Amino acid sequence: MADRQVVYTHGYQEPVLRSHRSRTAQNSAAYLLPELRPGQVLLDVGCGPGTITADLAELVGPSGRVVAVDASAEVLEQAAAHVAGRGLSNVVFESADVHQLHYVDGEFDVVHAHQVLQHVADPVAALCEMRRVTAPGGVVAARDSDYAAMTWYPEVPELAEWLALYRRIARANGGEPDAGRRLLSWARAAGLEDVRATSATWTYATPEQRAFWGGMWADRAVRSTFAETAVAKGYATLADLERISAGWRAWGAEPDGWFAVLHGEVLARV
Ligand SMILES: C[S@@+](CC[C@H](N)C(=O)[O-])C[C@H]1O[C@@H](n2cnc3c(N)ncnc32)[C@H](O)[C@@H]1O
Repeated sequence: MADRQVVYTHGYQEPVLRSHRSRTAQNSAAYLLPELRPGQVLLDVGCGPGTITADLAELVGPSGRVVAVDASAEVLEQAAAHVAGRGLSNVVFESADVHQLHYVDGEFDVVHAHQVLQHVADPVAALCEMRRVTAPGGVVAARDSDYAAMTWYPEVPELAEWLALYRRIARANGGEPDAGRRLLSWARAAGLEDVRATSATWTYATPEQRAFWGGMWADRAVRSTFAETAVAKGYATLADLERISAGWRAWGAEPDGWFAVLHGEVLARV
C-alpha cells in the first residue's frame, strides 16, 4: 500500500472541473467501448465530476451498474448530481482510495480509471488493487495523458513555461505527469500479462476548441491548486502565473493555433 501523501495537483476549482466535464466515453474511453455490454458491473476509479461515469452507466445499463469512487467527497457530490440530472439510477458513489479498495476479490467485470494513475503515490500498487477486484475474464482499463508529449503551434513561450512548471509541481506532489508512456510498464509490474497498449489524442484546432482549451488553461493558470502550489513552493510568482495565463489567451486567439494531447491506454484481461 502507498505510504506517501499525495496532493492532487489540479484541485476542484471551477476551471478544472470545466475541463473534466467536457469528457465523454467517446472522447476519453473509446478503447474500452468494444468491451462493454449491458448487464456488466463496472468500477470507475477516480470518477471526478462523473460525465464519463454517466456514459459508462448508460452503456452497461439498464441491467448493469456502476460503482464510482473518488478520493474527494466534494467532487463525488457533483458527480452524483450530474448522474441524477441525466435520469440514471444504476450508479452508486463511494469515497475510496485506489490503493486500498474496499471491495472483495473479483467483484467487477470492468475496472476503469481515466487520468488517475498519473496522480497517485504508487500506480503499480493501484493497478494491483484494480486487478484484484476484477473478475477472471474481466478487464482493467486505464488511460493517462503524457505531459512531456503535449505539442502545439505556434510557439508561445509562456506555454513552454507552463508545461515545465506543471511537470515540476506534479512531481513535487508525488505524481508522474508523463504517465501515458509508462502505463504498459506499470501494468506489467502489477502482474497483468494479457495487456493491449494503445494511444489516442485530443486535438484543439477549431475556433471553438481553441476558445475552450485556451480559456480553460488561462483560468486554471491562476485559479487552481496548481497555481496555489506554484506560489506556495516559490516555483512561480503571481505575476509569472498571470503572464502564463495571458500566453494561453494569446494561443487561444491564434487563427493557426493547434494543440494535441497524447494519451497512453492499457486494456488488460484478467
Ligand atoms: C484528473 S481527475 C479525472 C476525473 C475523471 N476520471 C475524468 O477523467 O474526468 C482525477 C481524479 O482522481 C481522483 N483521485 C486522485 N487520487 C486518487 C486516489 N488515490 N484514489 C481515488 N481517486 C483519486 C481525484 O480526486 C480526481 O477527481
